[in-house]
Amino acid sequence: MSGQRRQTMADLESAYEGLERLDSFPGADALAAHRAALLERNAHQADFLVALLGDAPRVLEIGCGNGRLLIDLARRGRLATGLGVDLARSRIAFAADWAQAEGVEGVTFAAADALTMDIEPGAWDAVLCITSAFAYFEPIAPGTAARLAARMREALAPGGLLCLELYPHPEYRPLLAATGGHARIWHELPEADPWRFYLSDLRLDGDTLTHAKTFIHRHDGRVDTGRREQIELYTEPALRALLEAAGFTDVRCFAGWTDAPYDGGELLVATARAT
Ligand SMILES: C[S@@+](CC[C@H](N)C(=O)[O-])C[C@H]1O[C@@H](n2cnc3c(N)ncnc32)[C@H](O)[C@@H]1O
Repeated sequence: MSGQRRQTMADLESAYEGLERLDSFPGADALAAHRAALLERNAHQADFLVALLGDAPRVLEIGCGNGRLLIDLARRGRLATGLGVDLARSRIAFAADWAQAEGVEGVTFAAADALTMDIEPGAWDAVLCITSAFAYFEPIAPGTAARLAARMREALAPGGLLCLELYPHPEYRPLLAATGGHARIWHELPEADPWRFYLSDLRLDGDTLTHAKTFIHRHDGRVDTGRREQIELYTEPALRALLEAAGFTDVRCFAGWTDAPYDGGELLVATARAT
């Protein structure tokens, strides 16, 4: 990768640290509204997984963020055990507090690096990595995504399910080609989010997208800047090859959280089975 500095683990640690700190919510109502909005907005992900998971699966989620997916599955009574891991301690604290408030059993959250944490081989029926978290690894150093894929495969019991959600951002390729490789885009976040505006500063270098973010707080106007991340923009053939090389079979690529085959759009959901 030329031009941009490579992503380091320190970049990844700071990219999400401090987000969803419990004291950033003005009160219990705002926190409850945020949790409810997370579950409502993302119910389709749990719907899709429920159809694929067995009766009482043991589920490991890598890069679980605020824990919403495992909490949703547990609320539906669909987990035997769940472990969510994330680098960001503030998000793990949010997830653990939420799980306790829900009274869901068997779900735990841990602050850890997915590349180095201990994983018991064959201990999980499903490994999930959504919201493009898998795409963060390759920009650290070539071969890092393959290392993570191999760890995920080892973590799974034979026949276990891998599910990845990726954002290939097909719209950024022509945009960044037209702007010489650099663009800035403002977004407005949903009303229940404590942060209201979000600026994306984007640079594309080969298949690696560098994304610097600025957030503006909804309630106190605070500006949060300096978060930077790099993600790999996967094509379907590249992802398939990577997973097969890591020992997965039956790789299927869907157009988002649907049963339609992937069509080159903005959301790629891949499932695969551990051999
Ligand atoms: C885009 S967020 C997705 C969060 C969550 N999956 C969701 O849907 O809300 C990516 C997450 O991956 C986490 N992450 C990045 N690198 C990681 C690593 N090496 N180990 C564990 N988590 C990591 C980040 O801290 C961040 O919370």
